[in-house]
Amino acid sequence: DWTMSAYRDQAIAAIREQVGDKQVICGLSGGVDSSVAAVLIHEAIGDQLTCVFVDHGLLRQGEAEEVVTMFRDHYNMPLIHADEKELFLGKLEGVSDPETKRKIIGGLFIDVFQKYANGIEGAEFLAQGTLYPDVIESVSFSGGPSVTIKSHHNVGGLPEKMGLKLVEPLRELFKDEVRALGAELGLPPSFIGRHPFPGPGLAIRCPGEITREKLDILRKADAVFIDQIRKHGLYDDIWQAFVAILPVRTVGVMGDGRTYDFACALRAVTSVDGMTADYYPFTHDFLGETATRIINEVTGINRVTYDITSKPPGTIEWE
Ligand code: XMP
Repeated sequence: DWTMSAYRDQAIAAIREQVGDKQVICGLSGGVDSSVAAVLIHEAIGDQLTCVFVDHGLLRQGEAEEVVTMFRDHYNMPLIHADEKELFLGKLEGVSDPETKRKIIGGLFIDVFQKYANGIEGAEFLAQGTLYPDVIESVSFSGGPSVTIKSHHNVGGLPEKMGLKLVEPLRELFKDEVRALGAELGLPPSFIGRHPFPGPGLAIRCPGEITREKLDILRKADAVFIDQIRKHGLYDDIWQAFVAILPVRTVGVMGDGRTYDFACALRAVTSVDGMTADYYPFTHDFLGETATRIINEVTGINRVTYDITSKPPGTIEWE
């Protein structure tokens, strides 16, 4: 009889066996996979695990604090909060090409991770939240022709470069099983049910040049949109929802005055695996109320649009 609690015990035994008394490093993104992997490994080997959370300055409102509070304060894990906002935002200054943004962020991420990992005495293992679908995909596509629409940001090649061995306790699991394991390990439902968030973060929701001003506006608008979705009980019906700030200012009126502020687009989709997606059919009331709230509550935005493109031909993210 196969249960999640049996899986958990087995996985813990396997991690102890593999790691022995050595140190393990885990890159924590705040996503479900790396979080479940970290909590599982922490249960197995306690303080032999150190997590590194890279803050690239492209996270959503309150996200860094949430992750640090949960893992450091609640789970008591050794956690390095790598605040590298200035480095990332500095290198992204003046860059507007989507692929260039991704390459810069991916490259810096590896450098930064390596820098902090080098400071961890005696580390021999790198933990990753690789899932079964990731394993199959890399096998069935290897050697075949590959069509890259967007370069995905990950830490591929890092273990070899750093001379680390991999610990991948989720390799046999599908996403829903990872969520079940997370629940078994006591991760709060609100955390387990979080929408996916891309590695390059808000950079790919800010078409054109990324500025601190635009990122601040985007974070506020996004928080209002997600708050609306939660208040209306729609969060769990939606695969992903976010705001993109558009690289254009438009004219508006507010009170007796004229405004000249940014336009933004709301994006919300349903999907099974992120490969295809349909836009979410919000009611007009919901959309109207959300637009009003964003314009009233977020200085810097005076126009709200709703993106009704499905995937394909669109992608979920804007870049
Ligand atoms: P697209 O925009 O390609 O996104 O339709 C499909 C899913 O992948 C996520 N995504 C990423 N995730 N690194 C990630 O970890 C990335 O570089 C990346 N780009 C897109 C996206 O949020 C959606 O869930």
